[in-house]
Amino acid sequence: MTTTETTPILDEATIAELRREDQAHLLHSQHYAPDHEQALIFDHGEGVWLTDVSGKRYIDGLSSLWNVAVGHGRGELADAAAEQMRKVAFANGYNGFSNEPAIRLASKVIDLCYDNMGALFFTNSGGESNEGAFKMARFYWNLQGREGKNKLISRPRAYHGSTLATSSMTGLPPFWKYFGPLVPNISHTEQPSNPESTDEPNTDGETAEWLEEAILREGPDTVAAFIAEPVKGAGGIFTPSDDYFPHIREICDKYEVLLIADEVITGFGRTGKMFALEHWGVQPDIVSIAKAITSAYVPMGAFIVSEPIADAMKNLPADAKFMHGYTNSAHPTAAAVGLRNLQIFEDENLVENAAAMGARLGDGVRAAFEGHPHVTNVRNLGLMCGLSLVQDAENGTPFAEPGTGAKVMAHMRDEGHVIPRIINDELLMAPPLVINADEVDFMIHAAREAVKAVTGA
Ligand SMILES: Cc1ncc(COP(=O)(O)O)c(C=O)c1O
Repeated sequence: MTTTETTPILDEATIAELRREDQAHLLHSQHYAPDHEQALIFDHGEGVWLTDVSGKRYIDGLSSLWNVAVGHGRGELADAAAEQMRKVAFANGYNGFSNEPAIRLASKVIDLCYDNMGALFFTNSGGESNEGAFKMARFYWNLQGREGKNKLISRPRAYHGSTLATSSMTGLPPFWKYFGPLVPNISHTEQPSNPESTDEPNTDGETAEWLEEAILREGPDTVAAFIAEPVKGAGGIFTPSDDYFPHIREICDKYEVLLIADEVITGFGRTGKMFALEHWGVQPDIVSIAKAITSAYVPMGAFIVSEPIADAMKNLPADAKFMHGYTNSAHPTAAAVGLRNLQIFEDENLVENAAAMGARLGDGVRAAFEGHPHVTNVRNLGLMCGLSLVQDAENGTPFAEPGTGAKVMAHMRDEGHVIPRIINDELLMAPPLVINADEVDFMIHAAREAVKAVTGA
């Protein structure tokens, strides 16, 4: 079937009825009713392709929510889930119980992650991973007799989840509106009062010095941890300069602040390395993961801790039980799917493919928009690529009226058969790791045509 052929799966009347029911009964993530009036309802997928109920096909340009790493339609993962479900519905992981898939997946992930990692705790989502990572940091400092070290520093434009604490860590003000007061003892880095810097800035202008100033402002003895995505994702795909994370590591060591890498998007190959801080030879103290661990076939996440923290957890004093847990932590079905999913990564060299196809995507987007009057700040690492749509690319002036990004998105989807993500006027692409060269070129072409149709250039 070509990309443009359309064989309806449901008739128009049924689709309209589904949309009415959706409006009536389903509150969505980031709910805003008008967004769903013409909801695109998906039916099935294969590889990087998704098909909606009207039969139209699209490239899943953001891997759904950055998570369908091995692509859609993987019978192996359905089989792994079914086989495990037939064995046992569930296995309690509390107080002296365990299960084989979870034990094996924990070992596998520790093996794949940074050399200094020692143990992990399974969650069901990225938000739970970050929430747990923060609690872990506080717990660890309490064990050291440093209970004053209880604050967390995060960054502007960070996205860390939607629990109350992770919304507070998130550095995007729309996520705070109407939910206040936010959780105390969580703050964000800011432009330093003395902006003189010898550091190369990140693609969103931040340098590691922002963190040093924040730690000094809060008081080093009060700061438990700093959390950062190696590449800011939902805030707009902003990549770091090469010296950013090495300098961050030095600052964290200097002030005894734990470095939490939120690798919920970047973990498992997204950037062309298994874990993203490998690009800069940096090892964090805690790593949050979710999404690609199961390629989203079932929900799962984890926070992974370094050897010193793992050792502390193995030698807890009698009165210091880690009273944190989820019913579905280490769920055997999720773990079985995770193991099979990571086997696919190995069998199909998906990390190497992400590096090669990511370079093709980045180079192709840069070439397509070379000298373009309305496109600036193209940034990419592996299969994450973002660009800014602006009024004037020469000086970066934004469009006065909102809506350019939304129009580009609509054109890419309706005419170009590609579904990217738009955040205001930032265009984001992060397709599944199984993408091939023709499909990468198809995405670039769709983006170029959409920008031309909307801006006239
Ligand atoms: C970097 C990052 N951290 C955390 C989260 C939250 O994950 P979840 O939606 O699974 O709670 C996300 C979700 O997109 C994310 O991108």
